[in-house]
Amino acid sequence: MRLTAGPEHAVDLDHVDLFDPELFALGDPHAIWNVMRTEAPLHHQVLPDGRAFWSVTRYEDVCRVLGDHRVFTSERGTVVTQLGHDDIASGLLMTSTDPPRHTEVRRSISGRLTARAVASWEDRIRRAIVGFLEPALDGGRWDLAEGAYRLPMIVAGALLGIPERDWDDLVRLTGMVTAPTDPEFRLGTQTATLTIAHHEIFQYLGEHIRQRRATGGEAESLFDHLMSAHAGRAPLNDEEIAYDAYSLLLGANATTPHTLSGTVLTLIERPEQFDKAQADPSLTPSLVEEGLRWTSAACNFMRYATADTRIGGGTVRAGDAVVAWIGSANRDESQFADPHEFDVTRGENRHVAFGFGPHYCIGAPLARMTARIFFEELFRMFSSVELDGEPQHLRSIFIAGMTHLPIVTRKRAKP
Ligand code: HEM
Repeated sequence: MRLTAGPEHAVDLDHVDLFDPELFALGDPHAIWNVMRTEAPLHHQVLPDGRAFWSVTRYEDVCRVLGDHRVFTSERGTVVTQLGHDDIASGLLMTSTDPPRHTEVRRSISGRLTARAVASWEDRIRRAIVGFLEPALDGGRWDLAEGAYRLPMIVAGALLGIPERDWDDLVRLTGMVTAPTDPEFRLGTQTATLTIAHHEIFQYLGEHIRQRRATGGEAESLFDHLMSAHAGRAPLNDEEIAYDAYSLLLGANATTPHTLSGTVLTLIERPEQFDKAQADPSLTPSLVEEGLRWTSAACNFMRYATADTRIGGGTVRAGDAVVAWIGSANRDESQFADPHEFDVTRGENRHVAFGFGPHYCIGAPLARMTARIFFEELFRMFSSVELDGEPQHLRSIFIAGMTHLPIVTRKRAKP
């Protein structure tokens, strides 16, 4: 998806198609969201097959939809590609479960993912990132976006204790789930791609759990923790363990690579911001936050209304699907000064790239640390990064991402 909004132009709100993956691969959704925030903060779209959904695009409405589980439930599914099909993992998958059960399940994992807990991984992650960036040192063309797909597995895969030989397969399968119509991932139709990917991932995780029960795994891994965790009084059963591991894998694989590639592309397009961030390492944390806001890799999440409700100047009916557009909320002029400016020195930055409320991203500390180390090492190793070909964006209505970002770098004299 185009991260820098193009010139303003007239938008026919009766005919916009926010369900068209092409819009996100080649188009300019920001131009549409800008108009929606002003003219139709609650927008209704009916698909040719009769399915329909509401969109909210303003910051405060997005926070309300994501944050108020009583009126906007996650239990029927939260991913737009599944619109209209009730989630078979309801009550099992953390993302598709409302409090109070959600609170219990989440508590069983969250202690292992706090900023303090993941800090012990800093050296390991740094080594992995240096190894990841090294191929770019020879000055030849290097595809950062393609390579970055593997990065979360180096971090979250290792944290979970998943063997390295399986990482590439899991990267491909999670890619199929997040972008089932992208030519890089598609296997026949969208439905076939999703079905195959889910089947293979759960078969893999089920087998992995059986093997670990039989032989034991890497001590202290997050997977082992899940296998001994309790939600409420009862231990998690194998199905719940598989679903939690799936949430963590998908949460990490679907987003982190795109945040990094998108932020690097934005810095390439704005050399003065690259120079500023490189010259002052104390800016790296604010660069990371601005990159999260700007790229909004998890472009939206969906909820279903449980009661007739007023929002965005209109009314949604009980049972209706409501899509909260995070990418739009993060450019809301009522919340951010000059929202369409990328500013590595931006001070207060209350973006919602990690969501809002009970489902706020459980992996946020790990993602933030990974991104911080990535940029520290990028600036340390390279004096410049330039484009060396056309970037390509992911064909997905759910994840704002990149599939290719060909770059050339210049090595810094004293890394
Ligand atoms: C830049 C990287 C990331 C972004 C932009 C991101 C974004 C998000 C967002 C917006 C949500 C809220 C979903 C909702 O409201 O329904 C979420 C939830 C979640 N994320 Fe992340 N995420 C990132 C990294 C990660 C990582 C590294 C992990 C795993 C270690 C992870 C695991 C999860 C899980 C398991 C949930 C569900 C939490 C719940 O339902 O309580 N995410 N993420």
